Amino acid sequence: MGSSDDYVAVNRETWTKANAEYTDRSAHDDWAEEEITWGMARALESELHVLPDFRGQDVVELGCGTGFFGAWLKRRGAHRLVGVDVTPAQLETARRTNDEFGLGLEFVEANAEETGLPDASFDLAISVYGASIWCDPYKWIPEAARLLRPGGELVFLRNSTLAILCATEEGPTSETLQRPQRGLHRLEWEAPDEGVEFQLGHGDWVRLLRANGFELLDLIELFADENTPDHTHYTFSREWAEKWPFEEIWRARLQRR
Ligand SMILES: C[S@@+](CC[C@H](N)C(=O)[O-])C[C@H]1O[C@@H](n2cnc3c(N)ncnc32)[C@H](O)[C@@H]1O
Repeated sequence: MGSSDDYVAVNRETWTKANAEYTDRSAHDDWAEEEITWGMARALESELHVLPDFRGQDVVELGCGTGFFGAWLKRRGAHRLVGVDVTPAQLETARRTNDEFGLGLEFVEANAEETGLPDASFDLAISVYGASIWCDPYKWIPEAARLLRPGGELVFLRNSTLAILCATEEGPTSETLQRPQRGLHRLEWEAPDEGVEFQLGHGDWVRLLRANGFELLDLIELFADENTPDHTHYTFSREWAEKWPFEEIWRARLQRR
């Protein structure tokens, strides 16, 4: 493992392992899903209507993993879908599944904080538990702004700040605060192989988005309900998440300069 200062290498190692343990195995079924759903909540896009009309649009997914979210958009008419990920094993699964489904996505191996893709080349940037939690927001938000055309949108899903403040090292999320919000930025859990995450409070997110030319369009907080499936990998309590939001989706538009 790289030094934890080299969080990109640490996270690449975490996701190489996750690929061998479960993401490669579930990729086919994830790509084949009929509905666009959000996060562990499996909230239906057909009910939430978070995404702008992406038909005919150029889309980049930052931290695409095995590529299933982008596949859902490409199948529904996105013009170009470029998935960026830093973990070769995840991209290998994504490319193999793309060949199997014949959807014509493109994949780029790169750190989503500095993709090397051209300026102003996309209409929509998305991230679902990708760059949105594994990259430093002070690096990936400016990169997303650079990649978008003026008027383009950024939509990303992350854990809610409240869930992060109440998360315990082992066992379900607590109803009491476990860590301060002041200084919230880089998070390393005690359990091995959990990688290095980045999380901010809401005020910091708003200021960061605005500083990079984004206008905030929406912040959708997701709760669990009786239909929320149990999730085998992450620890969260449905009882907690029925009362408090455990995931959230941010939608912002890059202002025309
Ligand atoms: C949870 S997966 C996201 C895929 C999918 N949307 C999902 O919800 O399962 C997280 C992905 O982020 C990628 N990742 C972590 N750090 C990254 C970085 N610096 N640049 C690009 N991708 C990164 C990992 O390789 C992994 O494939």
